[in-house]
Amino acid sequence: MTGATGNMGVPLVRELCRLGREPRVTTRNARRANSLLPEGVDIAEGDLTEPEFLDRALRGVDKLFLFLEAGDPVRVLEAAGRSGVSYVVLVTSLLAETRPRSFVGRFALETERAMWEGGFRGAVLRPWEYASNTLAWAREIRDGDVVRQPSAGLASPVIAPEDVAAVAARTLLEDHDGRTYALTGPAEVTAVQKVRALGTAVGRELSFQETADPELLEKIRTSPEEVAESVGVCFMESPGVRSTVRDLTGRPPRSFGEWALDHAESFK
Ligand SMILES: NC(=O)c1ccc[n+]([C@@H]2O[C@H](COP(=O)([O-])OP(=O)(O)OC[C@H]3O[C@@H](n4cnc5c(N)ncnc54)[C@H](OP(=O)(O)O)[C@@H]3O)[C@@H](O)[C@H]2O)c1
Repeated sequence: MTGATGNMGVPLVRELCRLGREPRVTTRNARRANSLLPEGVDIAEGDLTEPEFLDRALRGVDKLFLFLEAGDPVRVLEAAGRSGVSYVVLVTSLLAETRPRSFVGRFALETERAMWEGGFRGAVLRPWEYASNTLAWAREIRDGDVVRQPSAGLASPVIAPEDVAAVAARTLLEDHDGRTYALTGPAEVTAVQKVRALGTAVGRELSFQETADPELLEKIRTSPEEVAESVGVCFMESPGVRSTVRDLTGRPPRSFGEWALDHAESFK
């Protein structure tokens, strides 16, 4: 399993351990992984871009959980093919569907193609924006009552990484061969609503201040997708709310407000 110490990785490892599995996880920092993950997890420390480490980490593995930031994921897939991995769950991004020509969309599609052409059984998860991206606002919230960000006022059906993890556990432990799942949270929320929910979670009244310059936004609106991303402004049209989390896990995805309450300590 790659990405095991991340926002969705930690809940996924916990869920697999709860179900009696013993995942082997890769990390570049075993000490940190040890502090985040349950006891008994098989931790392989190393760099996924090093072929010897990759071969060692993959020895004896039959199922691989792979995400896009895992060094060079296509290389990881090639090594997995050589070492006899038969089933892969690959996490990419819903931008593969909504913005296939953007940098992330193209990278996601290329990696997905490499997985299917590699002859693996398995499934692709395409999540939308994670609720945990707002952790980037934590310092601003600790230091004051206003979050200043560009948002263009767009609403987005953010998903709790814990719900991506719940779907990942299902797709790893059951047979979902050939499936591609688009994952979103239960409702579209704007940056203003996110900040309000974070305020409720930390017990303070917070406000949001738009910092995107209207002229720049208009330029982005009419520019190629690459430009829209390169200026770093969150300007993604909502993909709409999808029912996949509920369909696969039998329960509704967490709202942004629920995620904020669960993670309030990170903003205090
Ligand atoms: N955030 C979003 O809005 C969003 C939306 C759609 C899809 N996704 C996808 O969801 C996946 C997980 O996101 P996340 O928020 O859980 O990520 P995250 O918390 O930022 O992930 C950090 C994890 O990435 C690993 N990592 C980072 N760079 C690496 C590298 N060069 N080589 C090997 N491992 C590396 C880290 O491992 P170490 O233990 O080695 O540090 C750590 O486990 C990503 O593939 C992301 O593209 C995210």
